[in-house]
Amino acid sequence: MTDATRTTEWVARLKAVGIEEAAFDLRHILLAAADDAEAEAMVTRRVNREPLSHILGDKPFWTLDLRVTPDVLTPRSDTETLVEILPTQITDRSALLRIADFGTGSGAILLALLSELPNATGLGIDISESALAIARENAARNGLSDRASFRIGNWAEGIADKSLDLAVSNPPYIASGVIDTLEPEVRDHEPRIALDGGENGLDVYHTLIPELFRILTPGGLMAVEIGYDQGDAVMALAKQANFDDVRLHHDLAEQPRIVLGRKRDS
Ligand SMILES: C[S@@+](CC[C@H](N)C(=O)[O-])C[C@H]1O[C@@H](n2cnc3c(N)ncnc32)[C@H](O)[C@@H]1O
Repeated sequence: MTDATRTTEWVARLKAVGIEEAAFDLRHILLAAADDAEAEAMVTRRVNREPLSHILGDKPFWTLDLRVTPDVLTPRSDTETLVEILPTQITDRSALLRIADFGTGSGAILLALLSELPNATGLGIDISESALAIARENAARNGLSDRASFRIGNWAEGIADKSLDLAVSNPPYIASGVIDTLEPEVRDHEPRIALDGGENGLDVYHTLIPELFRILTPGGLMAVEIGYDQGDAVMALAKQANFDDVRLHHDLAEQPRIVLGRKRDS
């Protein structure tokens, strides 16, 4: 078989199972594979709807290159909105800020923020020890281990009152009943604990947002990612928790994506 015939056949196999970005995926597989046999094996995994990130073992996020395994949510480009917006809300980017990322997963948000805020230090918390192992590896891979630490925990339990300047989270926010309707890459291959936000997807915000208010120092900022239809509900929770200056930011696709709030400086 010529190279061109083989490539056409691989693209056709990927398209036949509904993978729209077949050419994109194949290009990345061909760049990663040492030879045709390895490429063939990778294409077969992708045809079985394994996420491209699991097959390649990594995923770019912001300016970073992150290792990704089935133990962590594959970081989404939508989540880069948080990294784009948060530093613009800070007057002095060189300040010694203390950041915490709740449900850090691969460490994506925390590490990207540390890369933008050169004197900040950060704590990534997750309930999954296997996710934290990947986050630590990603900190080392991106030269950020000296400013990032990671700890197992249940959201903000055990974090001292008024001890942080920035608190961020991309919590699980998909309604339980919707998960089985998602594409196989997500439904069958991503950790359910990273997705499931309870009956209406809002369970975690109810617990987490008042906790973020408690742990922030006066003047501190919180930013949480939300589902496209959760803006009003999460903004209401932030106001109830006493946050000031509660705002909604949209992503590049103009979907509501981030709720921001500031703890009054008093
Ligand atoms: C939607 S993923 C976000 C991962 C990563 N921050 C990102 O944006 O790509 C949610 C994360 O919350 C973690 N998680 C779920 N329940 C938790 C809990 N009770 N306490 C802390 N983390 C939790 C999951 O393990 C998962 O890593």
